[in-house]
Amino acid sequence: MHAPDGDYTAAQILSFRRKLMSWYRSSARVLPWREMRDPYRIWVSEIMLQQTRVAAVIVHYERFMSLFPTVLALALAPEAMVLAAWSGLGYYRRAHMLHKAARFLVDERGGQLPGNSHDLRTLPGIGEYTCAAIASIAFGESIAVLDGNVERVLLRLAGRTEDPSAAGRVFLRAQAAALVPNKRLSEQTNAAGDHNQAMMELGATLCLIRAPLCMHCPVLDFCKTRGEHKTRPRGRQKSKAAAFLLSTRKRGTSTEVLLERRGQALTLMPGMLELPPLPIDLLDNREPLLRLRHSITDTNYTIEVHAEKDSASEHAGDLLLRDAIPAAAEALVWQPVTKLAELPLTGLARKILMRADLMAVTGPQSPARNTARSRSLDQAGKIVR
Ligand code: ADE
Repeated sequence: MHAPDGDYTAAQILSFRRKLMSWYRSSARVLPWREMRDPYRIWVSEIMLQQTRVAAVIVHYERFMSLFPTVLALALAPEAMVLAAWSGLGYYRRAHMLHKAARFLVDERGGQLPGNSHDLRTLPGIGEYTCAAIASIAFGESIAVLDGNVERVLLRLAGRTEDPSAAGRVFLRAQAAALVPNKRLSEQTNAAGDHNQAMMELGATLCLIRAPLCMHCPVLDFCKTRGEHKTRPRGRQKSKAAAFLLSTRKRGTSTEVLLERRGQALTLMPGMLELPPLPIDLLDNREPLLRLRHSITDTNYTIEVHAEKDSASEHAGDLLLRDAIPAAAEALVWQPVTKLAELPLTGLARKILMRADLMAVTGPQSPARNTARSRSLDQAGKIVR
């Protein structure tokens, strides 16, 4: 589905936007600045969101807006009051610049925020990314937002690693610009603004730095990475690749997953359960369901997880991966996903099963992740594609 090196066809771009928007409409967080298109409110939200997490911004945003509901109210307020209302958000220079810009607008522009990216960029505190966010969200301008979250989404989609050079920036700008819709703003819709917010939302809630929630991603089909990038070897660490099979089946109302018991004679983790390992050379260029990284002592593994394809599907001509497992039949066991937490799983097996949404995540995490996980646990049987 994805194009070579992120070069999308027009049909792929349309399909990408549609899937992204449909997810955004059903799953995006409800945020106070998303419910209206008042340029001033959007401006304040985007300044607060610079370098600051959404959760921290929400707490301060409503109070700030009730203290300074208009550009005029902000301009007329003493700076000490503006800084006090910013207390807790950090990076106070942002508050200082916002206040300065409000005074300039009231003195020179009749209290109106400029209606396009070119003029917005001239205001204090509005850099390239904030300017694109305000111009698209408040005025529907077709201009792509490129913040850290969006960059990560684009790099993963194209299967590229970070490249801080000028060529790397050019690539990302071109990718972002190719995807943003060029549609006029209407009363009901704001294609460019919603697209930009959806890209940021995807990076902030699913395409996470460490443990991306690929199973929930609306544009997984377009993604070359599907999980984590390979990393360059560091220090004396060794790098190895490994592959595992994720095979599931339905038994009544229960979903079962195929596991393999490690030999009792092994020195490492004897008798424990893992996903059946697959011979790497057999996989050719098969697209894995997921990629992840795992370190054991001095070795960094790049892990590919391959899902068993349904033999009745269009891929019936493909090799059935299950036939390629070297293990003896006695070593293989089907286990209901509801029992997984009680089994002696290896750490890697647990990590894969959590990432594949077949097992609830343990340990501290954000509420957003919990919700996403539990939602798809109900659909565990869908993993086999
Ligand atoms: N980060 C900065 N602006 C944002 C927005 N409008 N939505 C989500 N994340 C953001």
